[in-house]
Amino acid sequence: MESIESYLEKNKDRFVQELIDLLKIPSISADPAYKNDVAKASSLVESYLKAAGCDTTAIYQTPGHPIVYGEKLVNPDYPTVLVYGHYDVQPPDPLDLWTSPPFEPVVKKTDKHPDGAIFARGACDDKGQFFMHVKAFEYMVATNSLNCNVKFMIEGEEEVGSDSLADFLNAHKDLLANDVILISDTGMISRDTPSITTGLRGLSYVEVEVTGPNRDLHSGIYGGAVHNPINALCEMISSLKNKDNQITIPGFYDKVEELSDEERKEMAKAPFDLEEYKSHLDIDDVYGEQGYSTNERNAIRPTLDVNGIWGGYTGEGAKTVIASKAYAKISMRLVPHQDSDEITDLFQKHFEAIAPKGIRVKVTPHHGGTPYVTPIDSIGYQAASMAMEKSFGKKPVPQRTGGSIPIVALFENVLNSKSILMGFGFDSDAIHSPNEHFGLWNYFKGIQTIPHFYTNYKDLYEKASN
Ligand code: BES
Ligand code: MN
Ligand code: MN
Repeated sequence: MESIESYLEKNKDRFVQELIDLLKIPSISADPAYKNDVAKASSLVESYLKAAGCDTTAIYQTPGHPIVYGEKLVNPDYPTVLVYGHYDVQPPDPLDLWTSPPFEPVVKKTDKHPDGAIFARGACDDKGQFFMHVKAFEYMVATNSLNCNVKFMIEGEEEVGSDSLADFLNAHKDLLANDVILISDTGMISRDTPSITTGLRGLSYVEVEVTGPNRDLHSGIYGGAVHNPINALCEMISSLKNKDNQITIPGFYDKVEELSDEERKEMAKAPFDLEEYKSHLDIDDVYGEQGYSTNERNAIRPTLDVNGIWGGYTGEGAKTVIASKAYAKISMRLVPHQDSDEITDLFQKHFEAIAPKGIRVKVTPHHGGTPYVTPIDSIGYQAASMAMEKSFGKKPVPQRTGGSIPIVALFENVLNSKSILMGFGFDSDAIHSPNEHFGLWNYFKGIQTIPHFYTNYKDLYEKASN
């Protein structure tokens, strides 16, 4: 049988070109102006699934953006793998910081990607990553080596909170029934240190509106005598953390899972270079909660961050004004066993309570998400670990990440299956930022690794059922 390496070598130019064609479609789920482009991307994904070898494909319309489905069921006795990914992307702005336009993909070399990386919005998150699965599947079908049933569910609303997916899961439990869910929508440590993501943080996201006087005021006539809502918002936000950078919302930490010293020691074994981390970001020091390392701060500890803040005059030159209103978008990343709705509630009560006199506050919840941790003794994890060990020549390390994929907790609740988070991007790939990219090396490595997952999974599955 032809090896994946040889198949890849023969087809790699086409694999890159097909991905580039998908990256050219601005499937920005957050912006209604791009609704048609999102739909166009869903059609292209469907046709790629068909071409790769799915026997059945479908596009399911939802109140939001469409969900693309495809399957190839080879044998009812074989295990079933559900591949999840998303074809929608984050808005590309600020546009002027891109070195090439976000929807005109180009291959460029970087320090971390000496073999070149595709620069485009969605290259790594998540078009390039889910497409590795489509191409690995194509190889397995072409060589008649597919030994699991495969189902693809590629959605178009991940970047806006997967609002339609819960209903879809509940309505299509049989269609989506599976033994394990395989997802490439996270990262790994480096070329030399493969890793598998074993935890995702949850999310509580709120928008706040702070109102002072009933209209904008002259900042000379009224300044100093009326509380300025922008000043008030800044004071309120800064009071949300104490001098040890702990969050001051009463009850916020009540349910936070405390890791044992053992577990923390294990985590600390993952290689991490603080100097390189700082120099990559051009910062002279890191920040965070007292008593925790950088990797703990961004993975096993909850956080609170302002994602955007606005109000008053921000145009050319100076305008002397006290605004009537100020706004901020605030996210809280959560860890097991914090509950998203509960945290949103605690935030709301606290934020209203700390409003100074003369200031009114409105808190509007946006989407939430439940944290997720996956065990490393499952056959799914073992199959992924052995697959990476084979293609990297090194056993991957388990690693929790700070990002969120809220749907993963729902998969567990509704479909009763574990998700394996086998990602191939690097933290430095600038997802959600200008100049997002995905290394060609990473892309090809993913395509090489995935078929091993299927082989291993089938073996382990059969051993477990005997
Ligand atoms: N793929 C990311 C999540 C991610 C990236 C996890 C890297 C771990 C490492 C996903 O597309 C994403 O951006 N999720 C959002 C949450 C969503 C509700 C908008 C996030 O984490 O901000
Ligand atoms: Mn993603
Ligand atoms: Mn994302």
